[in-house]
Amino acid sequence: MMEYQKKTRKGSYLRSLVPLLFMFIIFICLLLFLSLSLPDVSLVKHSKETYRRLVTRKNSMEEGLGELGELMVSMLPDDLPFTVFVPSEDAFERIVQLRANISLDEDKRNNTVAILSRLMGFSAIPQHLPSIMVPMLKEISFDSVSGYTLYAWKASNGTLIVNNVRSEQVDVRKGETIVHVMDGVIMDAEFKQSFETDDED
Ligand SMILES: *[C@@H]1O[C@H](CO)[C@@H](O)[C@H](O)[C@H]1NC(C)=O
Ligand SMILES: *[C@@H]1O[C@H](CO)[C@@H](O)[C@H](O)[C@H]1NC(C)=O
Ligand SMILES: *[C@@H]1O[C@H](CO)[C@@H](O)[C@H](O)[C@H]1NC(C)=O
Repeated sequence: MMEYQKKTRKGSYLRSLVPLLFMFIIFICLLLFLSLSLPDVSLVKHSKETYRRLVTRKNSMEEGLGELGELMVSMLPDDLPFTVFVPSEDAFERIVQLRANISLDEDKRNNTVAILSRLMGFSAIPQHLPSIMVPMLKEISFDSVSGYTLYAWKASNGTLIVNNVRSEQVDVRKGETIVHVMDGVIMDAEFKQSFETDDED
């Protein structure tokens, strides 16, 4: 301590500053190195955790999946990897005039089940497609179970979009099946037409 004070009093500030400066530079380099390498690691870990939390949380809720959606999903084997884009309750009613409390009545049930199985053919793919696997602003295509082509992408706000239908809730797990609840019904033009003419009855 005395040594140091004597030295500084003598005016050799510069010489005593050199080691300090050197250590300071090393310190900065270390910080830079850490800041370059750390966020990468924590980001990956973070997104994995978020994904796991998302999937497990939604697994226990299943609130977006109405009775019709449940029935549609139950047509798939739950021990094989499938992904299905299921219409929301509102979309079922709005677009194909199906409502759980009416369409599942005994006299209408067979007809409803026939419609649901057609819709399932259009909107299920035989693989896992969690929403994080869908790229942002870039379309990827899949063949559905019945051979209908599906185009999936993510809008800049993160919303999953399939054949121009946007998702309402994603990554619901039912066994090995991943369910995305959609604000619309995915089907080909011909099948769609059959509902449009029904409208005029
Ligand atoms: C079916 O449910 C809707 C709301 O979910 C309700 O408005 C309607 O009255 C119900 N219809 C019948 C026949 O229960
Ligand atoms: C529905 O289908 C089952 C089995 O195919 C049949 O036994 C039943 O009579 C059908 N119900 C109606 C209302 O058509
Ligand atoms: C996100 O973007 C899509 C496509 O542009 C749009 O349809 C949707 O309403 C948006 N969602 C939200 C929550 O802003």
